[in-house]
Amino acid sequence: MKLSISDSIKNIPYYPKALMYGHEEGWVRLSSNENPYPPSEAVLETILDALSAVNRYPGGEKELKDDLAAHYGLAGDNFVIGNGSNELIEMSLRAMKHDSRDGIIVTESSFAFYEIAAKIYGYTVKKVPLKNLTTDLGAIARAIDDRTRIVFLNNPLNPTGTMYEDREFDDFIRSVPPDVLVVVDEAYAEFAQNPQFPGTLTYIKDYPVLIFRTFSKAYGLAGLRVGYSIGDADLVSFLERTKQPFSINLIACLAARAALKDEARLKKVLDNSAQARSFYYAELKAMGLEYVPSEANFVLIRIGDGAEEITRRLFERKVLVRFMGSYGFPDCIRISFGTPAENRKCIEELKKLT
Ligand SMILES: Cc1ncc(COP(=O)(O)O)c(C=O)c1O
Repeated sequence: MKLSISDSIKNIPYYPKALMYGHEEGWVRLSSNENPYPPSEAVLETILDALSAVNRYPGGEKELKDDLAAHYGLAGDNFVIGNGSNELIEMSLRAMKHDSRDGIIVTESSFAFYEIAAKIYGYTVKKVPLKNLTTDLGAIARAIDDRTRIVFLNNPLNPTGTMYEDREFDDFIRSVPPDVLVVVDEAYAEFAQNPQFPGTLTYIKDYPVLIFRTFSKAYGLAGLRVGYSIGDADLVSFLERTKQPFSINLIACLAARAALKDEARLKKVLDNSAQARSFYYAELKAMGLEYVPSEANFVLIRIGDGAEEITRRLFERKVLVRFMGSYGFPDCIRISFGTPAENRKCIEELKKLT
Protein backbone atom coordinates (compact mmCIF):
# COMPACT_ATOMS: atom_id res chain seq x y z
CA MET A 1 0.00 0.00 0.00
CA LYS A 2 1.46 3.38 -1.03
CA LEU A 3 -0.71 5.60 1.18
CA SER A 4 1.20 7.26 3.98
CA ILE A 5 -0.41 6.70 7.36
CA SER A 6 0.52 8.86 10.35
CA ASP A 7 2.31 7.21 13.27
CA SER A 8 -0.46 8.22 15.67
CA ILE A 9 -2.82 5.91 13.73
CA LYS A 10 -0.23 3.20 13.01
CA ASN A 11 0.51 2.87 16.71
CA ILE A 12 -3.08 2.09 17.67
CA PRO A 13 -3.27 -1.63 18.46
CA TYR A 14 -5.20 -3.56 15.83
CA TYR A 15 -7.28 -6.50 16.86
CA PRO A 16 -10.36 -8.17 15.41
CA LYS A 17 -13.37 -6.56 17.05
CA ALA A 18 -16.57 -7.99 18.47
CA LEU A 19 -15.87 -11.71 18.43
CA MET A 20 -19.19 -13.48 18.49
CA TYR A 21 -18.38 -16.78 20.21
CA GLY A 22 -21.11 -16.38 22.76
CA HIS A 23 -23.94 -16.42 20.26
CA GLU A 24 -23.41 -20.11 19.71
CA GLU A 25 -24.97 -22.43 22.27
CA GLY A 26 -22.94 -23.53 25.22
CA TRP A 27 -20.58 -20.59 25.78
CA VAL A 28 -20.26 -18.93 29.15
CA ARG A 29 -19.41 -15.32 28.33
CA LEU A 30 -17.75 -13.63 31.28
CA SER A 31 -15.17 -11.49 29.49
CA SER A 32 -16.87 -8.17 28.64
CA ASN A 33 -18.74 -7.14 31.81
CA GLU A 34 -22.06 -7.64 30.07
CA ASN A 35 -25.42 -8.23 31.69
CA PRO A 36 -26.06 -12.00 31.58
CA TYR A 37 -29.83 -11.61 31.28
CA PRO A 38 -31.66 -10.98 28.00
CA PRO A 39 -34.01 -7.99 27.88
CA SER A 40 -37.28 -8.27 29.83
CA GLU A 41 -40.57 -9.04 28.08
CA ALA A 42 -41.53 -5.35 28.19
CA VAL A 43 -38.30 -4.31 26.48
CA LEU A 44 -38.54 -7.10 23.91
CA GLU A 45 -42.11 -6.09 23.02
CA THR A 46 -40.97 -2.49 22.52
CA ILE A 47 -38.16 -3.69 20.25
CA LEU A 48 -40.55 -5.78 18.16
CA ASP A 49 -43.05 -2.90 17.88
CA ALA A 50 -40.30 -0.56 16.71
CA LEU A 51 -39.26 -2.80 13.81
CA SER A 52 -42.10 -1.70 11.56
CA ALA A 53 -40.91 1.92 11.64
CA VAL A 54 -37.31 1.44 10.54
CA ASN A 55 -37.96 2.73 7.03
CA ARG A 56 -37.79 6.20 8.63
CA TYR A 57 -34.73 7.97 10.07
CA PRO A 58 -34.83 7.52 13.82
CA GLY A 59 -36.61 9.84 16.24
CA GLY A 60 -36.98 9.37 19.94
CA GLU A 61 -33.84 10.97 21.37
CA LYS A 62 -35.75 13.93 22.74
CA GLU A 63 -38.18 11.61 24.51
CA LEU A 64 -35.32 9.53 25.92
CA LYS A 65 -33.70 12.73 27.21
CA ASP A 66 -37.00 13.75 28.80
CA ASP A 67 -37.30 10.35 30.49
CA LEU A 68 -33.73 10.62 31.78
CA ALA A 69 -34.45 14.15 32.98
CA ALA A 70 -37.43 12.89 34.98
CA HIS A 71 -35.35 10.00 36.33
CA TYR A 72 -32.58 12.30 37.59
CA GLY A 73 -34.63 15.41 38.40
CA LEU A 74 -32.85 17.48 35.71
CA ALA A 75 -33.83 19.01 32.36
CA GLY A 76 -33.67 17.30 28.97
CA ASP A 77 -30.92 19.65 27.80
CA ASN A 78 -28.61 18.32 30.51
CA PHE A 79 -28.29 15.12 28.44
CA VAL A 80 -26.64 14.01 25.25
CA ILE A 81 -27.26 10.49 23.98
CA GLY A 82 -24.40 8.47 22.48
CA ASN A 83 -24.05 5.30 20.43
CA GLY A 84 -22.77 3.62 23.58
CA SER A 85 -20.64 5.66 25.94
CA ASN A 86 -17.82 5.04 23.49
CA GLU A 87 -19.37 7.62 21.18
CA LEU A 88 -19.52 10.07 24.08
CA ILE A 89 -15.78 9.64 24.62
CA GLU A 90 -15.23 10.64 20.99
CA MET A 91 -17.75 13.50 21.15
CA SER A 92 -16.02 14.99 24.18
CA LEU A 93 -12.62 14.79 22.46
CA ARG A 94 -14.01 16.47 19.34
CA ALA A 95 -15.88 19.17 21.25
CA MET A 96 -12.88 20.04 23.41
CA LYS A 97 -10.34 20.26 20.59
CA HIS A 98 -8.14 23.28 21.21
CA ASP A 99 -4.80 24.39 19.72
CA SER A 100 -3.01 25.18 22.95
CA ARG A 101 -4.61 22.49 25.10
CA ASP A 102 -4.08 19.08 23.55
CA GLY A 103 -3.40 16.72 26.44
CA ILE A 104 -5.55 14.20 28.21
CA ILE A 105 -4.91 12.39 31.48
CA VAL A 106 -6.05 8.85 32.13
CA THR A 107 -5.46 6.33 34.85
CA GLU A 108 -2.92 3.71 33.91
CA SER A 109 -4.67 0.35 33.64
CA SER A 110 -8.07 1.72 32.78
CA PHE A 111 -10.53 1.26 29.91
CA ALA A 112 -8.41 1.34 26.74
CA PHE A 113 -10.71 3.38 24.51
CA TYR A 114 -9.94 6.74 26.21
CA GLU A 115 -6.36 6.50 25.01
CA ILE A 116 -7.19 5.05 21.60
CA ALA A 117 -9.77 7.73 20.83
CA ALA A 118 -7.52 10.51 22.16
CA LYS A 119 -4.74 9.44 19.81
CA ILE A 120 -7.12 9.34 16.85
CA TYR A 121 -8.03 12.96 17.56
CA GLY A 122 -4.38 14.02 17.94
CA TYR A 123 -4.19 14.42 21.72
CA THR A 124 -1.16 13.48 23.79
CA VAL A 125 -1.86 11.07 26.62
CA LYS A 126 -0.47 11.17 30.16
CA LYS A 127 -1.03 8.09 32.29
CA VAL A 128 -1.12 8.25 36.07
CA PRO A 129 -0.42 5.02 37.98
CA LEU A 130 -2.94 3.54 40.39
CA LYS A 131 -2.41 3.74 44.13
CA ASN A 132 -3.44 0.58 45.98
CA LEU A 133 -5.27 -0.50 42.80
CA THR A 134 -7.46 2.63 43.01
CA THR A 135 -7.55 5.84 40.96
CA ASP A 136 -5.02 8.23 42.52
CA LEU A 137 -6.90 11.54 42.38
CA GLY A 138 -4.10 13.41 44.19
CA ALA A 139 -1.52 12.30 41.62
CA ILE A 140 -3.92 13.14 38.77
CA ALA A 141 -4.42 16.65 40.16
CA ARG A 142 -0.64 17.08 40.30
CA ALA A 143 -0.27 15.77 36.72
CA ILE A 144 -2.54 18.48 35.27
CA ASP A 145 -0.53 21.10 33.40
CA ASP A 146 -1.25 23.99 31.06
CA ARG A 147 -1.71 21.59 28.09
CA THR A 148 -4.29 19.42 29.85
CA ARG A 149 -7.73 19.52 28.23
CA ILE A 150 -9.59 16.50 29.60
CA VAL A 151 -9.16 14.21 32.58
CA PHE A 152 -10.89 10.86 32.11
CA LEU A 153 -11.90 9.23 35.38
CA ASN A 154 -13.73 5.93 35.64
CA ASN A 155 -15.56 5.07 38.82
CA PRO A 156 -15.92 2.20 39.74
CA LEU A 157 -12.75 1.44 37.82
CA ASN A 158 -12.60 -1.16 35.09
CA PRO A 159 -10.69 -3.51 35.56
CA THR A 160 -10.08 -3.41 39.33
CA GLY A 161 -13.66 -2.74 40.47
CA THR A 162 -12.32 -0.26 43.04
CA MET A 163 -13.82 3.19 43.59
CA TYR A 164 -12.77 6.57 44.96
CA GLU A 165 -15.12 8.08 47.53
CA ASP A 166 -17.12 11.32 47.68
CA ARG A 167 -14.69 13.24 49.93
CA GLU A 168 -11.75 12.45 47.65
CA PHE A 169 -13.69 13.56 44.59
CA ASP A 170 -14.76 16.75 46.30
CA ASP A 171 -11.15 17.67 47.12
CA PHE A 172 -10.08 16.76 43.61
CA ILE A 173 -12.70 18.70 41.68
CA ARG A 174 -12.04 21.85 43.67
CA SER A 175 -8.37 21.68 42.68
CA VAL A 176 -8.94 21.32 38.93
CA PRO A 177 -8.30 24.47 36.84
CA PRO A 178 -11.51 25.85 35.29
CA ASP A 179 -10.37 25.23 31.69
CA VAL A 180 -9.97 21.47 32.17
CA LEU A 181 -12.92 19.15 31.53
CA VAL A 182 -13.36 16.26 33.95
CA VAL A 183 -15.15 13.29 32.42
CA VAL A 184 -16.42 10.82 34.99
CA ASP A 185 -17.26 7.54 33.30
CA GLU A 186 -19.72 5.81 35.63
CA ALA A 187 -20.51 2.83 33.39
CA TYR A 188 -20.74 0.55 36.45
CA ALA A 189 -22.23 3.00 38.97
CA GLU A 190 -25.51 1.10 39.38
CA PHE A 191 -23.62 -1.90 40.80
CA ALA A 192 -21.74 0.06 43.48
CA GLN A 193 -22.84 -0.74 47.02
CA ASN A 194 -20.50 1.53 48.97
CA PRO A 195 -22.61 4.41 50.36
CA GLN A 196 -19.63 6.76 49.90
CA PHE A 197 -20.01 6.53 46.11
CA PRO A 198 -19.68 10.18 44.98
CA GLY A 199 -22.81 12.11 44.10
CA THR A 200 -21.16 13.42 40.95
CA LEU A 201 -24.45 14.92 39.73
CA THR A 202 -24.27 17.67 42.34
CA TYR A 203 -21.14 19.08 40.66
CA ILE A 204 -22.35 19.53 37.10
CA LYS A 205 -23.74 23.01 37.71
CA ASP A 206 -20.61 24.60 39.16
CA TYR A 207 -17.75 22.59 37.67
CA PRO A 208 -16.78 21.48 34.14
CA VAL A 209 -17.83 17.89 34.79
CA LEU A 210 -19.47 15.45 32.41
CA ILE A 211 -20.83 12.16 33.69
CA PHE A 212 -21.06 9.20 31.32
CA ARG A 213 -23.52 6.41 31.97
CA THR A 214 -24.62 3.54 29.80
CA PHE A 215 -27.49 1.17 29.07
CA SER A 216 -24.92 -1.53 28.22
CA LYS A 217 -24.31 -2.87 31.72
CA ALA A 218 -27.03 -2.80 34.42
CA TYR A 219 -29.75 -2.18 31.81
CA GLY A 220 -28.62 -5.04 29.59
CA LEU A 221 -28.66 -3.36 26.17
CA ALA A 222 -24.99 -3.66 25.17
CA GLY A 223 -25.95 -4.93 21.72
CA LEU A 224 -28.09 -1.89 20.97
CA ARG A 225 -25.43 0.72 21.91
CA VAL A 226 -26.91 3.49 24.04
CA GLY A 227 -25.02 5.67 26.50
CA TYR A 228 -25.68 9.17 27.79
CA SER A 229 -23.75 12.06 29.20
CA ILE A 230 -25.06 14.36 31.92
CA GLY A 231 -23.71 17.88 32.31
CA ASP A 232 -24.40 21.57 32.31
CA ALA A 233 -26.69 22.41 29.37
CA ASP A 234 -24.14 24.74 27.71
CA LEU A 235 -21.37 22.18 27.94
CA VAL A 236 -23.60 19.38 26.70
CA SER A 237 -24.61 21.51 23.71
CA PHE A 238 -21.00 21.50 22.47
CA LEU A 239 -20.90 17.71 22.48
CA GLU A 240 -24.22 17.67 20.66
CA ARG A 241 -22.72 19.85 17.89
CA THR A 242 -20.02 17.26 17.17
CA LYS A 243 -22.40 14.30 17.13
CA GLN A 244 -23.24 12.35 14.00
CA PRO A 245 -26.87 12.92 13.05
CA PHE A 246 -28.98 9.82 13.74
CA SER A 247 -26.22 7.89 15.54
CA ILE A 248 -28.82 6.38 17.89
CA ASN A 249 -31.09 4.03 16.05
CA LEU A 250 -34.82 3.96 16.70
CA ILE A 251 -34.90 0.49 18.25
CA ALA A 252 -32.09 1.38 20.66
CA CYS A 253 -33.79 4.61 21.68
CA LEU A 254 -37.16 3.00 22.38
CA ALA A 255 -35.60 -0.01 24.12
CA ALA A 256 -33.60 2.30 26.39
CA ARG A 257 -36.77 4.16 27.36
CA ALA A 258 -38.51 0.87 28.18
CA ALA A 259 -35.49 -0.45 30.12
CA LEU A 260 -35.29 2.74 32.19
CA LYS A 261 -38.89 2.20 33.29
CA ASP A 262 -38.40 -1.47 34.13
CA GLU A 263 -37.35 -1.11 37.76
CA ALA A 264 -38.15 -4.74 38.60
CA ARG A 265 -35.67 -5.95 35.98
CA LEU A 266 -32.96 -3.59 37.23
CA LYS A 267 -33.50 -4.88 40.77
CA LYS A 268 -33.19 -8.48 39.57
CA VAL A 269 -29.93 -7.66 37.78
CA LEU A 270 -28.44 -5.84 40.78
CA ASP A 271 -29.54 -8.59 43.21
CA ASN A 272 -27.95 -11.18 40.93
CA SER A 273 -24.75 -9.18 40.79
CA ALA A 274 -24.61 -8.85 44.60
CA GLN A 275 -25.15 -12.61 44.99
CA ALA A 276 -22.54 -13.38 42.33
CA ARG A 277 -20.06 -11.16 44.13
CA SER A 278 -20.53 -13.09 47.41
CA PHE A 279 -20.36 -16.41 45.54
CA TYR A 280 -17.04 -15.57 43.86
CA TYR A 281 -15.53 -14.15 47.05
CA ALA A 282 -16.39 -17.33 48.99
CA GLU A 283 -15.19 -19.69 46.25
CA LEU A 284 -11.99 -17.77 45.54
CA LYS A 285 -11.18 -17.60 49.25
CA ALA A 286 -11.70 -21.36 49.53
CA MET A 287 -9.38 -21.85 46.53
CA GLY A 288 -6.74 -19.60 48.09
CA LEU A 289 -6.90 -17.12 45.20
CA GLU A 290 -6.42 -13.41 45.87
CA TYR A 291 -9.05 -11.03 44.46
CA VAL A 292 -9.82 -7.32 44.57
CA PRO A 293 -13.11 -6.48 46.34
CA SER A 294 -15.32 -5.01 43.63
CA GLU A 295 -18.01 -2.34 43.40
CA ALA A 296 -18.80 -3.41 39.83
CA ASN A 297 -20.17 -6.47 38.00
CA PHE A 298 -16.80 -8.18 37.69
CA VAL A 299 -13.88 -9.23 39.84
CA LEU A 300 -10.12 -9.06 39.25
CA ILE A 301 -8.35 -12.22 40.37
CA ARG A 302 -4.65 -12.84 40.86
CA ILE A 303 -3.79 -16.19 39.28
CA GLY A 304 0.00 -15.88 39.09
CA ASP A 305 2.34 -16.74 36.22
CA GLY A 306 -0.18 -18.94 34.42
CA ALA A 307 -2.95 -16.32 34.05
CA GLU A 308 -2.80 -16.21 30.24
CA GLU A 309 -2.60 -19.98 29.95
CA ILE A 310 -5.60 -20.40 32.25
CA THR A 311 -7.59 -17.93 30.17
CA ARG A 312 -6.78 -20.02 27.10
CA ARG A 313 -7.69 -23.28 28.79
CA LEU A 314 -10.97 -21.86 30.06
CA PHE A 315 -11.66 -20.75 26.49
CA GLU A 316 -11.15 -24.35 25.32
CA ARG A 317 -13.86 -25.27 27.83
CA LYS A 318 -16.12 -22.56 26.36
CA VAL A 319 -15.72 -20.25 29.34
CA LEU A 320 -14.68 -16.74 28.26
CA VAL A 321 -12.85 -14.64 30.85
CA ARG A 322 -10.43 -11.75 30.23
CA PHE A 323 -6.65 -12.00 30.61
CA MET A 324 -5.47 -8.71 32.06
CA GLY A 325 -2.01 -8.49 30.50
CA SER A 326 -3.00 -5.56 28.28
CA TYR A 327 -4.22 -3.66 31.36
CA GLY A 328 -0.85 -4.10 33.07
CA PHE A 329 -1.82 -7.08 35.23
CA PRO A 330 -0.05 -10.04 33.56
CA ASP A 331 -0.76 -12.28 36.55
CA CYS A 332 -4.52 -11.58 36.64
CA ILE A 333 -7.79 -12.44 34.97
CA ARG A 334 -11.07 -10.54 35.18
CA ILE A 335 -14.33 -12.45 35.47
CA SER A 336 -17.66 -10.71 34.81
CA PHE A 337 -20.59 -11.82 36.91
CA GLY A 338 -22.91 -14.18 35.04
CA THR A 339 -26.07 -16.00 36.00
CA PRO A 340 -25.74 -18.38 39.00
CA ALA A 341 -25.35 -21.36 36.64
CA GLU A 342 -22.66 -19.58 34.59
CA ASN A 343 -20.76 -18.58 37.73
CA ARG A 344 -20.84 -22.16 39.03
CA LYS A 345 -19.58 -23.49 35.70
CA CYS A 346 -16.77 -20.93 35.63
CA ILE A 347 -15.61 -21.79 39.16
CA GLU A 348 -15.91 -25.51 38.47
CA GLU A 349 -13.61 -25.20 35.43
CA LEU A 350 -11.24 -22.83 37.22
CA LYS A 351 -10.90 -25.34 40.08
CA LYS A 352 -9.78 -28.01 37.62
CA LEU A 353 -7.06 -25.71 36.29
CA THR A 354 -5.58 -24.12 39.41
C1 LIG B 1 -15.32 1.90 31.83
C2 LIG B 1 -16.10 1.67 30.60
N1 LIG B 1 -16.60 2.72 29.92
C3 LIG B 1 -17.31 2.55 28.81
C4 LIG B 1 -17.55 1.29 28.31
C5 LIG B 1 -18.30 1.16 27.02
O1 LIG B 1 -19.62 1.21 27.24
P1 LIG B 1 -20.66 1.34 26.05
O2 LIG B 1 -21.13 -0.03 25.77
O3 LIG B 1 -21.71 2.23 26.62
O4 LIG B 1 -19.95 1.97 24.88
C6 LIG B 1 -17.07 0.17 28.95
C7 LIG B 1 -17.33 -1.17 28.41
O5 LIG B 1 -16.89 -2.18 28.85
C8 LIG B 1 -16.31 0.37 30.13
O6 LIG B 1 -15.80 -0.67 30.80
